Amino acid sequence: MTKRKIDFPDYGKEIMEVLKEGRALLVAQGKDGKPNPMTIAWGSIMYAWNKPIFVVLVRDSRYTYKLLEESESFTVNFFDRTYNKAMGFCGSKSGRDFDKFKETGLTPGESKAVVTPIIEEAFLNIECKIVMKSEMNPTLVDPEIVKAHYQTDVPERTYHTLYFGEIIDMYGDFSENLTK
Ligand SMILES: Cc1cc2nc3c(=O)[nH]c(=O)nc-3n(C[C@H](O)[C@H](O)[C@H](O)COP(=O)(O)O)c2cc1C
Repeated sequence: MTKRKIDFPDYGKEIMEVLKEGRALLVAQGKDGKPNPMTIAWGSIMYAWNKPIFVVLVRDSRYTYKLLEESESFTVNFFDRTYNKAMGFCGSKSGRDFDKFKETGLTPGESKAVVTPIIEEAFLNIECKIVMKSEMNPTLVDPEIVKAHYQTDVPERTYHTLYFGEIIDMYGDFSENLTK
């Protein structure tokens, strides 16, 4: 696999399709310097403040939330379907209980421009610097969405914090139609 630089907004459609399918891992790294991958499906590539941005939504109950609160960056890493088992593991087990890199055999690699590592096996890596974050205000959310996704009496169903990451570098290999 030969990854080359991807210019925003190239492959925007493919990126959204793979994300929606739950084939992306958000890597966060806190003060202890141990990276943790978490499966994500919600988020977007977007443009704001004259910058290319990747926004992720992280529930406050996730270990990833704690790590992001200690960090200034994150990476988003996209996979073909052969990695679906790893996506399942990283989307159901917590970094509080498991070393998810060790358990899945995935390899953290040095990022080019941010402290948080990328994942080598991904066909696309996005390196982001956190430039804004936003807590959801329950009073401003459609009650139907609150009902469907947020139950404050269930500890798992806390609200999301949105982290807006400036895309500092993005590189990948789309040559093998990996999005199919
Ligand atoms: C397909 C899929 C998509 C997911 N998308 C998100 C997401 O966008 N945001 C989020 O907070 N959790 C999402 N999750 C749940 C987390 O991945 C899951 O709770 C994970 O175990 C949290 O790991 P952590 O405690 O190590 O952070 C998703 C899970 C799956 C299986």
